[in-house]
Amino acid sequence: MLDNFGLRFLAAGQALEVVSTDGMDVALLSSYDGTEIIHHRLRAESSWAIGPSEGWTGSEFIFLLAGEMSVKVKDNIRILKAGDSLNASLLTHDCFFQANEETEFLYVTSQPVFYHYSNVLQGMRELAIQVEEKDGYTADHCKRILQLSMTIGERMKLNSTELYQLNLGSFLHDIGKVKVPENVLNKPGKLTSEEWEVMKMHPTYGKEVLEEANFPFLEVAAIVEQHHERFNGTGYPKGLQGEEISVAAAIVSVVDSFDAMTTDRVYRKALTHEEATAEILKGRGTLYHPEVVDHFIAILSDVKGGEIR
Ligand SMILES: [Fe+2]
Ligand SMILES: [Fe+2]
Repeated sequence: MLDNFGLRFLAAGQALEVVSTDGMDVALLSSYDGTEIIHHRLRAESSWAIGPSEGWTGSEFIFLLAGEMSVKVKDNIRILKAGDSLNASLLTHDCFFQANEETEFLYVTSQPVFYHYSNVLQGMRELAIQVEEKDGYTADHCKRILQLSMTIGERMKLNSTELYQLNLGSFLHDIGKVKVPENVLNKPGKLTSEEWEVMKMHPTYGKEVLEEANFPFLEVAAIVEQHHERFNGTGYPKGLQGEEISVAAAIVSVVDSFDAMTTDRVYRKALTHEEATAEILKGRGTLYHPEVVDHFIAILSDVKGGEIR
């Protein structure tokens, strides 16, 4: 409803979009310029969490309207009751919220997080996992690519919007394989050159899948489309080079290449971590963005003593 001043009023109980997930109803009350005000209703015993690994670095504010929930940060537990608030800006640790009774709170955030709850995105995530498994990867391939990409993105000081896009783009990078015929995707041997041409369409298909689903972030589609481009222009589908490739796509390209090299495929055995690391280093500045390689090498030793899986 618009009044004479052109302001829009929401009627009681009206939201821009409402999504229900396990034990939780979420309603987007307002959204402008990346800032969102989201109403959460958590049923008793349900939990919710926010954390720095998602890449949020903007301002975040939580205001309890009704009920009671406990917040756990590391070993500290605090109880929030109606009227209490929490400024969660610059999170350094995961915050776990547990509703002790039915609880309602407002979550104000400078990141566009609401889409994260949507059924469209949940469906896309499941699809991405299914296609990777069909392609011979383990179930946590998408998650692993996401986590490593985010660690590099944070080290490279991407801003919070770029990190959000990297978060989605890295998880969904191979979603276009859903359009690659199964006899090509699952072929237990080397692909013919015609089949390889079809396989090389998957980044373009991925962009199309996101566009067809009205995915709201063009930059995410670009990450998916560019994840097989190579720094020196020898990649596909467009042969982009250097700065023409988004930094986020350059990050996914290194992480995904390493993961592919260290995974057993039907047509070849996996390389060892040392061999794969040497391959990535060999491609520094030619196949791969040099700065991304430097950060990747630096974090490899941080992650479980050199093991990333
Ligand atoms: Fe791919
Ligand atoms: Fe992949």
